[in-house]
Amino acid sequence: MRYGYFDDKNKEYIINTPATPLPWINYLGNKDFFGLISNTLGGYSFYRDARLQRLTRFRYNNVPADTGGRYYYLKEKNKPAWNPGYLPCKTPLDKYTCRHGLGYTIIESEKEDLISKLTCFVPLDDNCEVHRLDLSNRSDEPKTIQLFSFIEWCLWDAVDDSQNFQRNLNIAEVEVEDNTIYHKTEYRERRNHYAFFGVNRPIAGFDTDRNEFLGQFRGFDDPIAVEKGASTNSISHGWYPIGSHQIDLTLAAGESTHIVFILGYGQNPVDDKWSGKNIIRKTSARFILEKYRSIESVESEFDRLKEYWNQLLASYQLESSHEKIDRMVNIWNQYQCMVTFNLSRSASYFESGTGRGMGFRDSCQDLLGFVHLVPERARERILDIASIQFEDGSTYHQYQPLTKLGNHAVGSGFNDDPLWLIACTTAYIKETGDHGILEEMLPFDNTPGTEQSLFEHLRRSINYTIHHRGPHGLPLIGRADWNDCLNLNCFSTEPGESFQTTSNYDSQVAESVFIAGMAVKYGKEYAELCQRFGDPKEAGEILNFVKDTEQAIYDSAWDGEWFLRAYDAHGNKIGSSQCEEGKIFIEPQGMSVMAGVGLNNGYAKTALDSVYDKLVNDFGIELVTPPYTEYRKELGEITSYPPGYKENGSVFCHNNPWVSIAEAMIGRGNRAFDLYRRISPAYVEEFSDLHMTEPYVYSQTIGGRGGHSLGQAKNSWLTGTAAWSFVNISQAILGIQPDYDGLRIDPCLPDELKQYKIKRIYRGCTYLIDVENHNRGFIEITVDGQKIDGTLIPVSKEKNTRHVTVRL
Ligand code: GLC
Ligand code: GLC
Repeated sequence: MRYGYFDDKNKEYIINTPATPLPWINYLGNKDFFGLISNTLGGYSFYRDARLQRLTRFRYNNVPADTGGRYYYLKEKNKPAWNPGYLPCKTPLDKYTCRHGLGYTIIESEKEDLISKLTCFVPLDDNCEVHRLDLSNRSDEPKTIQLFSFIEWCLWDAVDDSQNFQRNLNIAEVEVEDNTIYHKTEYRERRNHYAFFGVNRPIAGFDTDRNEFLGQFRGFDDPIAVEKGASTNSISHGWYPIGSHQIDLTLAAGESTHIVFILGYGQNPVDDKWSGKNIIRKTSARFILEKYRSIESVESEFDRLKEYWNQLLASYQLESSHEKIDRMVNIWNQYQCMVTFNLSRSASYFESGTGRGMGFRDSCQDLLGFVHLVPERARERILDIASIQFEDGSTYHQYQPLTKLGNHAVGSGFNDDPLWLIACTTAYIKETGDHGILEEMLPFDNTPGTEQSLFEHLRRSINYTIHHRGPHGLPLIGRADWNDCLNLNCFSTEPGESFQTTSNYDSQVAESVFIAGMAVKYGKEYAELCQRFGDPKEAGEILNFVKDTEQAIYDSAWDGEWFLRAYDAHGNKIGSSQCEEGKIFIEPQGMSVMAGVGLNNGYAKTALDSVYDKLVNDFGIELVTPPYTEYRKELGEITSYPPGYKENGSVFCHNNPWVSIAEAMIGRGNRAFDLYRRISPAYVEEFSDLHMTEPYVYSQTIGGRGGHSLGQAKNSWLTGTAAWSFVNISQAILGIQPDYDGLRIDPCLPDELKQYKIKRIYRGCTYLIDVENHNRGFIEITVDGQKIDGTLIPVSKEKNTRHVTVRL
């Protein structure tokens, strides 16, 4: 069953009922100001950091779910109030559609001939959310309407906000001036920022105190102020500050009007933050409010936002006549890559936004899908990430987006982390040609005076792996590798203890075959950097290490039909046919083959066949099978999950593209595409009732066969699946691969894809690529009518446009 449909022309997903199985959300904002917005107008807004600078409150674990957001109440005399997004009043609507577009959401609804259209977006360069409300009276009679707006302020630090009540209930402060409600809690002391909620027309009243607005025993669904049709002009002193305006309007028969609400963030220099005794200096708010007074600015900023996205997405556009592939490649997959780049795993409905900062490995991988979109921001991100590395090459596992400092609470010791830095740096250079980035000087652990070149940072990354190997010559796993839940040195027995950071058994024995695969893959990539931009002798040394590691995999990590997963702290095998549970894991198969391991001795093919036989279900590839049925302290958090969930045997989508890419590497296009399609949102739209999460974005997990939720997805949006799926479809399957000296074209296609066209903007030149697949077993490429040898189209400085034909 579906709950809506794709409108590819407008790059929107149109939801036609508020009653989706879960809130189906969208992200507003690109740089500093962000909002999460659901199809019933739930969600929250923040400036830069979802924990530290939260503007509006969100209630995790609330019932009903997704309560609290941007609410507008529309009330005609003697009729029940209703909301454009259905919630919170739940008054049945005559019509409802929600269009989630790129950086905006529009909800159109109708009740008894009153038509409402609410457009929400964050403009490109202003720190605010614009809520444009269009109202039309379609009846033959005039309508007298009362409109109430509503948002609830969060007291900035979202963690304190949800626990430190003895303080919180005393500190709230607001100001009201010229129709605008200013939230200034803690501004009197150490903050120099404030939030505001304004509207571009006269108001009949306002409320800033939640108790006054809602009334005793009432919820968001029946505020007393709305029922009575009268705001109380309350000023919040402590308790729960909100922002609500009352606007009284009369619309003649057939008349329309538009009202613009602005939810914004302002800040001042620390020493110039007051305009009078305890009165905030409101310059930045006024600037924004003034600008969006006029509907023309709202319209032009909205158009600019759309144009911005059109231009961004233009760097990779596909026409394949398979609408599902096209819409994922051209619109939604790239869009999700941008969102994961911006927010890593921090702010979502499922990752609370109050805990984790930006993950080191997550951010490095997110870059792989983002780098072609805004390379300058990718560059900046690489430099930020590298600056939290330690001198020995290891790194903090996370950092806070606001301070860009490493997160001490989690620390380091995830031994895959350093290698991901090589992955994103080489992807960046291949896209842009900017190898100058290698000479950028960056500190370790953000400590001034420790600066070394990025090249040196990468050298330390690979050397960290070289110097941390175990008894079989395979890399030591440390706290965990990509699989955060394979905690082989933790042995945790205390409830509540962190599985990752409580290492009480640092064995120096537990080894990861996954990191071995990574070491081969990214070792080769590092060696190529040395060859091209550094010291060829070093390249040779690294290649020797790569060879040794590959050999160690053959000698000690081949189980007969697949690659082992690891050795535990006692030297026992994990992921072997000899194990009772957890016989085969996905990660070492995908990563090893992507690294080129086993291509010459048949292991690659055998391992991938085993994956297909044992791990694939209708909805993707499971992480491990059979899943663990008992907690085993020597394996860690993975065995804490019930079978079929999360790392313990769900389809953990992030690693599915690795296997698909690996299939493409051994030339099996049908398989590669089959695996691509199983988890692709556009292909699972048909059974949204089972899948439950949004059909326009990837989710982190899908229930596996071992559990009770086969096919049910969880934790949509912030997942490395976005980046890796884009790498998979755009590079491995469709075959457009940025390389140091140019664009390489090397598709591996399923039979059903006979021809397609791609427009790819690469290093300033537009490539119009026309591919025909005749299954001939060899490739022929012409560039501007000239046949070329091989698959690489060298960069050309002269041309703006190049016509490429590819015949397979
Ligand atoms: C989560 C983490 C990611 C990790 C994965 C597997 O997605 O963000 O870093 O690799 O889980 O455990
Ligand atoms: C839990 C999750 C894993 C995630 C990790 C982040 O272990 O199972 O997916 O990566 O938390 O800390």
